[in-house]
Amino acid sequence: MVQQPHGPLRSFGRIKARPIKSRQASLLQSLLPTIALDLSRPVDFVTLKSDATEVWLEIGFGGGEHLAAQAATRPDALVLGAEPFLNGVASALRHIEAASLTNVRLHAGDARDLLAALPDASLDRVFILFPDPWPKLRHHKRRLIQQDVVAELARVLKARGRLRFATDWANYADWTLERLTRAPELVWTAQKADDWRLAPADHAPTRYEAKKLGDIAPVYLEFERTAAA
Ligand SMILES: C[S@@+](CC[C@H](N)C(=O)[O-])C[C@H]1O[C@@H](n2cnc3c(N)ncnc32)[C@H](O)[C@@H]1O
Repeated sequence: MVQQPHGPLRSFGRIKARPIKSRQASLLQSLLPTIALDLSRPVDFVTLKSDATEVWLEIGFGGGEHLAAQAATRPDALVLGAEPFLNGVASALRHIEAASLTNVRLHAGDARDLLAALPDASLDRVFILFPDPWPKLRHHKRRLIQQDVVAELARVLKARGRLRFATDWANYADWTLERLTRAPELVWTAQKADDWRLAPADHAPTRYEAKKLGDIAPVYLEFERTAAA
């Protein structure tokens, strides 16, 4: 794969991967190759999209519960997912198999490599749900939301495309608001507190969210890509 100009991926709070159960291991062998995105060459987006009405991306899908739930609700949309943690990918494959989903494609790696491979204005929706919080000040530079990633998100989102970011860490919420509202292409859609305090109607709770490890109740920040370039 072409190396992208970003820093190395750091693992947050995961000293050791759990052993992968045998059914999941077999899906890594059989199902993953059939739905894995090939980033060793430029993505042929027209072929990838095929007859899907929209293309969505979930960054850091963890165990894949949310990704699978969204894909099941919208079979007309193609749902891309990026997750470097192999146990998470294996778990997502179980959900994909259980729901017989045919509209999911996965990148078992760094989302920044997938973003770089996508054409401009190609995505209708992006989800970044409960990304690794890196709460210590000296680790903030490891957070996913950085200026280069914000620029990439603005580039790949279509006009009127939407980005949903959720966190239960106050400082990460502030950090993200500061960086995303600084991007002229992205507009925070909230009109009132409940717009960010309450889970959106189409939200599917995630495994990490259920653990309530953060220092605040979850906030859901929804942004819209402006029409202007
Ligand atoms: C705290 S977990 C949350 C997982 C899931 N979204 C949830 O809410 O249950 C953050 C996830 O982001 C993944 N992650 C971290 N950096 C990433 C990157 N650069 N690209 C894609 N995924 C990443 C981690 O492996 C981890 O699974």
